[in-house]
Parts: sequence; C-alpha cells; structure tokens
Amino acid sequence: MSTDDASAPSDSHAGASRVPAHIAIIMDGNGRWANARGLPRAAGHERGVEALRRTVEAAGQIGVRYLTVYSFSTENWRRPASEVNALFGLLKTFIKKDLGRLKKEGVKIRVIGKRQGLPDDIAGLVERAERETADNADFYLNIAFNYGGREEIARASRRLAADVESGKLASENVTEDIFASYLDTVDMPDPDLLIRTSGEYRLSNFLLWQAAYSELVFFDVLWPDFDRSFLEKAVAIYSERERRFGAVSKGSA
Ligand code: IPE
Ligand code: IPE
Ligand code: MG
Repeated sequence: MSTDDASAPSDSHAGASRVPAHIAIIMDGNGRWANARGLPRAAGHERGVEALRRTVEAAGQIGVRYLTVYSFSTENWRRPASEVNALFGLLKTFIKKDLGRLKKEGVKIRVIGKRQGLPDDIAGLVERAERETADNADFYLNIAFNYGGREEIARASRRLAADVESGKLASENVTEDIFASYLDTVDMPDPDLLIRTSGEYRLSNFLLWQAAYSELVFFDVLWPDFDRSFLEKAVAIYSERERRFGAVSKGSA
C-alpha cells in the first residue's frame, strides 16, 4: 500500500464497525421548522442549538469520539443581515453558556472555517473556547463556522504554496497526507458517517475533501426535532453498510 492510501484502513474492505469514530452533521431545516409554526427563522435557529446540545451529549454516550457540525457556511452570508446576526449571536451565546460545562466534561473544541473577516468578539470567543479546552481529549467537538469546503482547500493551498516558495516544502513531496495537514481538520480522522437532516440531498460545500469515503445518511426530520433516537438510527444504518474504499466486496468470489 502506498502512503497515498492513507484514507483506507489496513483492512480496507472491512465492514463498518458498530460505532463510527467520527460523525459529521449538516444541521439543516431550522428555517422550515420555524415557518411551519409561524415563528421567525431565528426561533428555529434557537431551537437548533437545543438539538445540538442533545446531540453532543448523546454522541458522547454512544461512544463517538469526534463530532463535526455545520453551523454557518461561507455561502450563508447571502442571507439577510438580521439572520446572519442572529446566527452569530447564537454561537456567542453557546460558547459563553456552554464552555464551562464542556470543558469539565473533557470536550475539546475546535472551530473550523475561515477566521479572517469574523467580528473581533466572535474571533476572541472562538480562540478562548479552543484555548480553554486544548488539553481535553475525551470528546472532540468541531464547529464548522464560516466554513466552506472549497474555501478551506483554497486557503490550505495558499499556505502550502507559501511553504513551497520559501523552500520549507518540496513540491514533489506533496502527498495526500501532506495536503491534508494544511486543512483545518489536521490530526482528525475523516468522518465515517455524515448525516444531513431536512430532506435535502446535497453536501452544500461541507467537508469536500474529508467526506471522500464517508457513509451518507439523510433524514427528513428538521434539525430542531433531531434527537438521540435519530442519532442511534443513523449509527444502526451505518453499521449495516459495507465500506469498501474502492476494493471488492468481502463476499465476492
Ligand atoms: C440550518 O437551517 C441552519 C443554517 C443553515 C445556518 P436553515 O436556516 O438552512 O433552515 P432551512 O433549510 O431554511 O429550513
Ligand atoms: C448548509 O445548509 C449549511 C448549514 C447547515 C450551516 P444550507 O441551508 O445553507 O444549504 P443549502 O443552501 O440548502 O444548500
Ligand atoms: Mg437550509
């Protein structure tokens, strides 16, 4: 096996192990949840934070080690300023309210996405959350905020190109592993399972590099209604899947 086969485990045609180490979630449907109740979209986002809290707790209990959640995309800037402000406000409140508890519970927080252009108060809170949980290693919570897969890849490429220019890295040594070490997800396994709620069947620019071999599970449920039972269902579906990583099926002659 060449070093470029890094994404495949040594037993590359193994079936999925029962509990995925890393789950990624596209938390979608807050707006429709609110619309259906005649509430402002921001109310849906607020309830979405409750669903996130439930999900972090359930994921830890189930034995998942890494949870990456999509909470604001680089394309979400196209929404009205009032909604963007509400979403930024919710991240701030979440960090302020939950950081102490998450820290005690051994959760290591990482915020992935573009930092440049974020308001100073948010950037400060994000840095604080990462700094204060830097020594934790029981559970890894990655919040994708101002995140876009293409933006992440372009930003990684700029840093990589600068290292080639300065002589720190030789262009012929650029492998998949080296490239991945420039991404925001450095030192993390790729997501085994990617869940999207709200009945949409697309990635919307989420983890484009990392999800190359993720198992995809889609639910119709709107994110504010997501709970442990859906997480367990997704894990059950995942455990029935056969991950082949390009190899032939185990059972084939
Ligand atoms: C997901 O819910 C949260 C974000 C994208 C920030 P939406 O706000 O996209 O909800 P819908 O898709 O409009 O229902
Ligand atoms: C994806 O949802 C982004 C987040 C969940 C944060 P969107 O609602 O923005 O995706 P599209 O626009 O339906 O593709
Ligand atoms: Mg949406």
